[in-house]
Amino acid sequence: MDSDPIHQDREFSSISVNPCSPNIGAEIGSIDLTQPLNDDTRDELKRAFIKYQVIFFREQQISFDDHVRLAEYFGVLGAHVGKSTISSTTEDPRVRKFHYDATTPRVSGDVFHTDQSCAKVPPLGSILYNHTLPPNGGGDTLFSSMYAAYDALSTRMKVYLDGLTANHDGVPTFGEGTPNADHPVIVKHPESGKKLIYVNEVFTMKINELSEQESKSILDFLFRHCTRPEWTCRFRWRPHSIAFWDNRCTQHMAISDYLPSIRSGYRVQLDGESSPLPA
Ligand code: SIN
Repeated sequence: MDSDPIHQDREFSSISVNPCSPNIGAEIGSIDLTQPLNDDTRDELKRAFIKYQVIFFREQQISFDDHVRLAEYFGVLGAHVGKSTISSTTEDPRVRKFHYDATTPRVSGDVFHTDQSCAKVPPLGSILYNHTLPPNGGGDTLFSSMYAAYDALSTRMKVYLDGLTANHDGVPTFGEGTPNADHPVIVKHPESGKKLIYVNEVFTMKINELSEQESKSILDFLFRHCTRPEWTCRFRWRPHSIAFWDNRCTQHMAISDYLPSIRSGYRVQLDGESSPLPA
């Protein structure tokens, strides 16, 4: 996914935008995130984020202030709904450290998921900056487009799912005290207006309007369908790379193939603005 002028998206002129796959992901170039961005660059970046659902940056050695400034172009900084045993605080309360090494019990996020969909208002997105990566590769992240997954359903299945709701529970993952929320199975993105599938294997427990057996069968199908390779892209991290995903229309999964090597970085999360909207 290096910069590739042949596949550059010519809709953008202040920044370079190189799609990573037909359905999701673009690498952004001609940008310096250690400096404040002008209005044109900011507008194009927002457009690229909505169009590609996850955007990537290379060779950006950002400070905590740079990291937060990028996030604040897009919304209000938020906090994780659970008590994370994986991430830790830094000297800056806005930024959390994500560090994995030989002492780490497991890699967080190693099953496809939408971040904290158990919240009534799940996060808008997250920006992960990794400065240190395993020396022999590994630790890639997969992203999947829930727009493309929805579009690929048959018309009859779309009609069937429309209007159903599902329960999302944070307790099995984050323990007691984490929230639990019902969301529509098919939602509408608040900015693009496009429809997408909103269930994920980590947090979605049951489709409320179905029996246990029916719900299990439909959810099993949707979990597999949502993560098919046709609508995913794979980000190969390098030191000082950044991934910024729209949590409202994507799922992601961190590949756990590198321990005991070190993978280390920082992450900020953006608050969502509304509960997922019925389609
Ligand atoms: C996650 O947020 O689930 C982890 C993403 C990553 O570490 O690549």
